[in-house]
Amino acid sequence: MGELLGDIAATFIGLSGLAVVVGVILIRRGNRVWHPRVMLVATVLAALFLVFYLLKWGLYGTTRYAGPEEWRAAYYALLISHTVLAALNGPLVLWLLYNAFKGRFAVHRAWARWTVPVWLYVAVTGWVIDLVLKRFGEAAGGIGF
Ligand code: HEM
Repeated sequence: MGELLGDIAATFIGLSGLAVVVGVILIRRGNRVWHPRVMLVATVLAALFLVFYLLKWGLYGTTRYAGPEEWRAAYYALLISHTVLAALNGPLVLWLLYNAFKGRFAVHRAWARWTVPVWLYVAVTGWVIDLVLKRFGEAAGGIGF
């Protein structure tokens, strides 16, 4: 069940990354109707990721890396950068949406140039971490309520 929740979370974050790519393509083509819609879908998918991730964390705790030693440092570099940028992505997205809905599109656009790469990095590394832990993970326990 823990693995299923993890797969659902990884699917949502992956789909949100795909939706961001589609949203960027749309605005590059000048589509101001579907760009906001697709970006809002991307935001909802990212929020769903968070719900399932936290559910898994709360019910089953975390998973520890138990793979080859020579890859441990690389794995933790990936995990830490993913976690820090994922936490940063939340406020960045809220700020983007706020400026967009206020009609401050120059600000929106300037911040979007940073937020989109951060979002995509988080989505891709989320998948990589999920795959690594499927192969090399071991349950580390947790609060388990
Ligand atoms: C979190 C969700 C969003 C993200 C990640 C996002 C991302 C982007 C990006 C990357 C660009 C610039 C593309 C480029 O020229 O290089 C852009 C422009 C734009 N976005 Fe968004 N967007 C989001 C939500 C919205 C929403 C909700 C609206 C409308 C209410 C909106 C309206 C616009 C408009 C009108 C532009 C063109 C600005 C200009 O060129 O002057 N966006 N957005």
